[in-house]
Amino acid sequence: MEHPLRNAYLEAMGITQWVVRQPPAPPEIAERQAVAASAAQPQAPEPAAVAEPVTGHDAPPSWLTEAPLPEEQWHPGETTADEFEPHAPRPVVADLGWDALQQHIAACRSCELHRSRKQTVFGTGSQQADLLIIGEAPGADEDRQGEPFVGRAGKLLNAMLKAIGLERNQVYIANILKCRPPGNRDPHVEEASHCRPYLMRQIELINPKVILAVGRVSAQNLLKSTDTLGRLRGRTHRFGADNTPLIVTYHPAYLLRSPEQKAKSWQDLQQVLSLLQK
Ligand code: URA
Repeated sequence: MEHPLRNAYLEAMGITQWVVRQPPAPPEIAERQAVAASAAQPQAPEPAAVAEPVTGHDAPPSWLTEAPLPEEQWHPGETTADEFEPHAPRPVVADLGWDALQQHIAACRSCELHRSRKQTVFGTGSQQADLLIIGEAPGADEDRQGEPFVGRAGKLLNAMLKAIGLERNQVYIANILKCRPPGNRDPHVEEASHCRPYLMRQIELINPKVILAVGRVSAQNLLKSTDTLGRLRGRTHRFGADNTPLIVTYHPAYLLRSPEQKAKSWQDLQQVLSLLQK
């Protein structure tokens, strides 16, 4: 059967070839097929493993050459609850609503980045979203337009969301930093720490079901870790006082440069979807 919408999603993600998963044959037929196949090709080498999607989604993308991790390989991670320690001072923005928070951030001069920014990039999407996506920092396009993930990486992010059935306006998208670091350099530690209460307040207001950290900088900042992205992805971390599930995946800008990693990001998205469906 043709699925024009699904095909468009997969194509937008750069997936132009894929194989529709066939339902398993009844045992007696499967046995006959196996016997027939081995009789026809007695010397044939072991066939390559065929990837299966984790969820009931239609068809595995053809670039998914590795099987998705089975559920039991997603290890629970550690909680990062330091902001919620009872004796920690409450940040100035801790009680602000959306509008007051946005105004406060727009006027922020806590670090040097305010000198070079065109504008702050607060965040976008549904304030009631189940899924919160957290990137690194605005780039040149975002600095110009005042919205996160609007450049090429943003287009890929939109396509990735569509592949799990979500529109951009159904999720919330924010960044570790609200201002663009000049030349798109990595955020400095003190810049991230000035911005942290803003993001923490956004997380509190949204109260998402799942957080998706995209890219190393986002994952390391949120989890207060120096581990590589490769070590941080592939398990379900828990974030904050609510133990919100947090999944780490590759930054879409990195995926544009390294499309071979899209298979792993697809595994991560499947895990996000399964957590959203719980
Ligand atoms: N990269 C990010 O991490 N965030 C953006 O908003 C844009 C690009």
